[in-house]
Amino acid sequence: MDPFRDRVAVVTGGGSGIGAAMARAFAARGARLVLADLDEEAMARVEGDLRGEGAEAISVRTDVTRRAEVERLAEETIRRFGAVHLVCNNAGIVTFGEMAKAPHEDWEFTMGVNFWGVVHGVEAFVPRLLAQGQGGHVVNTASMAGLVGMRWLGIYCASKFAVTGLTEALHREIEPHGIGVTLLCPMIVATNINENSVRLRPDHLRPKGAPTAPPAGGLQGGTVSADEVAARVVRAIDGKKLYVLTHPEQRELLRRRAAKLDQVFEEWD
Ligand SMILES: NC(=O)c1ccc[n+]([C@@H]2O[C@H](COP(=O)([O-])OP(=O)(O)OC[C@H]3O[C@@H](n4cnc5c(N)ncnc54)[C@H](O)[C@@H]3O)[C@@H](O)[C@H]2O)c1
Repeated sequence: MDPFRDRVAVVTGGGSGIGAAMARAFAARGARLVLADLDEEAMARVEGDLRGEGAEAISVRTDVTRRAEVERLAEETIRRFGAVHLVCNNAGIVTFGEMAKAPHEDWEFTMGVNFWGVVHGVEAFVPRLLAQGQGGHVVNTASMAGLVGMRWLGIYCASKFAVTGLTEALHREIEPHGIGVTLLCPMIVATNINENSVRLRPDHLRPKGAPTAPPAGGLQGGTVSADEVAARVVRAIDGKKLYVLTHPEQRELLRRRAAKLDQVFEEWD
């Protein structure tokens, strides 16, 4: 069965960047879209573009940090379209800075969006996908920072490693029921994540909080477009693949991590 044609896709963070690009790519394959984001104006623009291309699309203002709002998103999706098939837990923010200097609230804010947002998506949608018995697919957006620890990204890494573990486990649990699971781990993608992450922070975290742009030289590698990332996600859904990586540079970094772990056994006593 075509995983997109006439299927219902929910995309959190669908108002911008990678989420908006996934929504466009899914719509181009014939999916009906539910955009969920805090930013209503941004969602309205994406929804307008999707409709302009002939797709069915709705927007549901959702704060993914609030479990009740994600539950309401699921209810609204079923009320409007009668089913749900494809769920992208993608909304996220980035937090930069040394952990030793970070305000405690930065941990809570970052985990609230990046970790609890995904948990709420799993809680609201996975039981529905299983009960429906029509297959489907869950895409959770982590990051390369969810596979390798990175300097100045410790809080963000913690939130994204949690998404990695949760998603790999989810894959083992629901793939036997015919529901695909994909872990999206991009490196640098051309989006407004830095600006959005400043704008969406609570006021008290802005002035004295961690820096909101990467320190020079902190992040390495090329930049790819959100549309390229979305095209890879579409291929992963078609092929029921667990991992989406976005940059060839990731290979060497992942090899180095695996080699360091392997070295532990070389020095075994
Ligand atoms: N851009 C990159 O380089 C990059 C790299 C690795 C991973 N990611 C991840 O990709 C995902 C999408 O990021 P992006 O780069 O497209 O950023 P973006 O800022 O362009 O889009 C993120 C969207 O999420 C929304 N959002 C934020 N907090 C929310 C909340 N509490 N509830 C609902 N919506 C909320 C924002 O309003 C925004 O529209 C994130 O999870 C991010 O961590 C991005």
